[in-house]
Amino acid sequence: MSSDPAIASKAKERPGLRIPEHVGVIMDGNGRWAAARGRPRTEGHVAGVRALRRLVQLCIDYGVAHLTVYSFSSENWSRPPEEVQFIFALLRRFVASDLEKLIRNNVRVRIIGSRQGLDPSLIRLIDEVEARTALNTGLRLMVAFNYGGKAELTEATRRIARAVAAGELRPEDITEATITRSLYTAGVPDPDLILRTSGEQRFSNFLLWQGAYSELVFVDDYWPDFDEDTFLRVLEQYSLRERRYGGLEAKAP
Ligand code: IPE
Ligand code: IPE
Ligand code: MG
Repeated sequence: MSSDPAIASKAKERPGLRIPEHVGVIMDGNGRWAAARGRPRTEGHVAGVRALRRLVQLCIDYGVAHLTVYSFSSENWSRPPEEVQFIFALLRRFVASDLEKLIRNNVRVRIIGSRQGLDPSLIRLIDEVEARTALNTGLRLMVAFNYGGKAELTEATRRIARAVAAGELRPEDITEATITRSLYTAGVPDPDLILRTSGEQRFSNFLLWQGAYSELVFVDDYWPDFDEDTFLRVLEQYSLRERRYGGLEAKAP
């Protein structure tokens, strides 16, 4: 749960609220947010970064331990090249403008996704962000960038198959834990809650394995409008959920 009870002070003010240990967010609706204002889609992505900053701060304030945000999917390559380039440039700008603050706020950053198709200078930047925040002990922020759940499972399958071919692993010894350990998210608990904004109700290839038992919450707001009110509404919904994992309803003792 929360790493530092003093920091998670905002959750203490709301005793009925259950705080998930790991939150996944599909930050959707940037383009429609911009279109509704007669602005180019790129402006929506810029506003989306501001919403991401708010989300990171809220997770710190409320004591969420792990946050995974979906910022570019392996399928988003099918968008016009100008938009793809803009999103890539935005990631660089975000790192340049926010890295020092993330370090100060004790945030540990990991970028999950395929390195394939990424510019070597971007890969160096990702490595630098991860290295410079590696010793931080507060919020663990995973940015899913060039990420696809199917691609992740395919890569993991290849790695496991190589170990079998090399005689290091017997097929009968492959367990769910073997697969979990082979994913980008190795060592991170599965998301308790997955939130998607903009009214769409699908995974779009986000955390397919890890989200098997996540509680799903969908809100109609476009991502750039995300704020503390939305965050609280989502946590309130999550707090009412009964997580059964295939078992039976918990009875009072
Ligand atoms: C989410 O917003 C950000 C990315 C997928 C990069 P969209 O760009 O998908 O915005 P909509 O869904 O078209 O409104
Ligand atoms: C999912 O949103 C990916 C991200 C939020 C980064 P999309 O906008 O790409 O998903 P679809 O196309 O509506 O399924
Ligand atoms: Mg979208």
